[in-house]
Amino acid sequence: MNIENLIKEMTLDEKIGQCVQLPGNYFDKNGELTGPLEGYELTDDQIFMCGSTLGISGSAEIRKAQSFYLEKSRLKIPLLFMADVVHGYETMFPIPLAIACSFDPMQARKVAEYSAIESYSNGLHVTFSPMVDIVKDARWGRVMESNGEDTKLGVDFAKAYVEGYQGTSLDQKNTIASCVKHFVGYGAAEAGREYNTVDMSERVLRQEYLQPFQSAIDAGCKLLMTSFNTVNSVPASVNKWLLTQLLRDEMGFEGLIISDWTSIKECIAHGVCSDLADAGVQAFDAGCDIEMSSPCYYEGVKKAIEEGVISIEALDRAVLKVLSLKQELGLFENPYRGCDEPNKVLSDEHKQAALEVAQQSIVLLKNEDSILPIDKSKSIAIVGPNCSELDLNGSWTWKGHLDNNITLQQALQDYNVVFCGNVYTYRDIEHAEIVIYAGGEKSNMVGEAASRASITLPFNQEHEIEELANRNKQIVFVNYSGRPIDLSNIINKTSAIVQAWFLGTMTNQAVASVLSGDVNPSGKLAMSFPASGGQCPIYYNHLRTGRPYQKLNEPYKSRYMDIDNEPLFPFGHGLNYSNIQISQIEHGEKISVDATLKISINLENSSNVTGTEVVQVYINDKVATVARPVKELVAYQKVEIAANNVEHIDFEICLDDIKYVGLDNKQCIESGDLTLMIGLDSAHVYSANINVIV
Ligand code: BGC
Repeated sequence: MNIENLIKEMTLDEKIGQCVQLPGNYFDKNGELTGPLEGYELTDDQIFMCGSTLGISGSAEIRKAQSFYLEKSRLKIPLLFMADVVHGYETMFPIPLAIACSFDPMQARKVAEYSAIESYSNGLHVTFSPMVDIVKDARWGRVMESNGEDTKLGVDFAKAYVEGYQGTSLDQKNTIASCVKHFVGYGAAEAGREYNTVDMSERVLRQEYLQPFQSAIDAGCKLLMTSFNTVNSVPASVNKWLLTQLLRDEMGFEGLIISDWTSIKECIAHGVCSDLADAGVQAFDAGCDIEMSSPCYYEGVKKAIEEGVISIEALDRAVLKVLSLKQELGLFENPYRGCDEPNKVLSDEHKQAALEVAQQSIVLLKNEDSILPIDKSKSIAIVGPNCSELDLNGSWTWKGHLDNNITLQQALQDYNVVFCGNVYTYRDIEHAEIVIYAGGEKSNMVGEAASRASITLPFNQEHEIEELANRNKQIVFVNYSGRPIDLSNIINKTSAIVQAWFLGTMTNQAVASVLSGDVNPSGKLAMSFPASGGQCPIYYNHLRTGRPYQKLNEPYKSRYMDIDNEPLFPFGHGLNYSNIQISQIEHGEKISVDATLKISINLENSSNVTGTEVVQVYINDKVATVARPVKELVAYQKVEIAANNVEHIDFEICLDDIKYVGLDNKQCIESGDLTLMIGLDSAHVYSANINVIV
């Protein structure tokens, strides 16, 4: 298909149509809705000229919708089918925040590859994933979709997801295009409140928030989605500086820019557009190629072109991008791409992959007196609001049917479970040697539009755990959640805390394997766990402030009167069943243009259990032109150490790893001293002085 010639044949309306995406229910009454749907008065022509749709999947459904559409479309240009396949299609994998806790981007790549296989054979072309927003506020429900608070992890995971979805080329089977979101800053919504204002300096935007997007662009992502929020007081979807100057010209993004669900129309509510037509013209002129789920382009773009406000060349460029993606996907040859392929959803191989990722995502937060792993001879009571819960998939799981999941009791069937249920007597608790409390959140408490002002345990769980602790001291708390929870009121009432997140189809199999010790946990927190919701946003790589708080009760320092500044569990924290320590560190003393900093580390496992640790390397720039974080992750390595063995690992840090965004908003590096820090979490580190020579 010669798409340049095709564009010449298209009417103005048909061209605009390619830049409009309508919700799936226009083509299939069961189409998934992921935002408010209003009754737009669209003509049949407008519906059957639109270039893409979202929220329909399944080979039969896609065949039906595509053939219905093609029958009506004059030029027979196939529809693009997009959807939110965020952590698995039908085989559900852990929520992305949990996957980030593996500190292993290859896990994310694996998830994306399997998601692509299942999505492909169900007729999908594009997934709205990964979300690469940096997040620091656990009150925001969408932290579950992110890679956590750290930019380096964000950069590495963004690349891994894009490569996993897209493979080497979209003309290959089992690949789908990746739409990276949300450009940009959405993760910094004020007070963690969904859809709220975002305001940050351009320097911080560049230092932290843009970098994962740049990484995804460099990995070749085909689409980017705009965010709902304002950037420098202009909503992202109509922000020309953001979409054209920064994203296109500076960051070099050549793919498609798509708005978020009704985000163009919402610019009227933001108070920067007067009506639908104005919003459409502003968004198109800003550089947004496709409008999702609102009719502003149909309302405004035609007139704007006829009046010369928008050039026809600009429209042709956008249409060319849409058609090029269709061509890359091979849709002109086969509009039913993937629909004939064997459907491998929930195959043993996929479930095994989901189990392995889930096992890597679990974080052991506390394990007093080595109560875990649980000895099989012990009698166990399983209680708590999630003890019989099947919905442990988290949000964005439209195809993740719950009957594929099992309960914790089913997963622990080889154990001596003497009681399981929500309604128990204190005798049941006293008679068990160990009480497993399956608590945390429910799946519907996380994700989009799921902000919580208080992030303590819901449903009176704190009180319940206190009552249980009065009857039995051996409490293992399994926390299923989509965000860091404030566990400060229960930490001293439990012997062990397993952060189980929402791990998808294989959640409880993975939890059981960690409780039993079949799997030695290795996850590390990708997001700090606050000691109080009042600390939010809380993150390890904060600035120092002019009055840093060091000594207890020091007056006139940056601190709270009622609680500590420190999180309950820091970024990078995570225990295991081995006893692994860094036993030796050797390193150079400087980094310069001709010399990298070489670090050599021995890790000693003095236990009888093989284990895995994540060695984390941080730096702090002592004096710079702008204030720099107290710590920032520059490198990490995950390494398995056999029982009673020593492993050796090396790092090499170069100038590029320690550069930062300076006052002029450009990358820079200066001579001077920095502190090198090495540890197995972000709070307990070896430190040394390093000289930087530029
Ligand atoms: C969300 C996006 C999602 C889109 C399409 C929006 O409400 O913010 O992340 O991709 O809906 O479902």
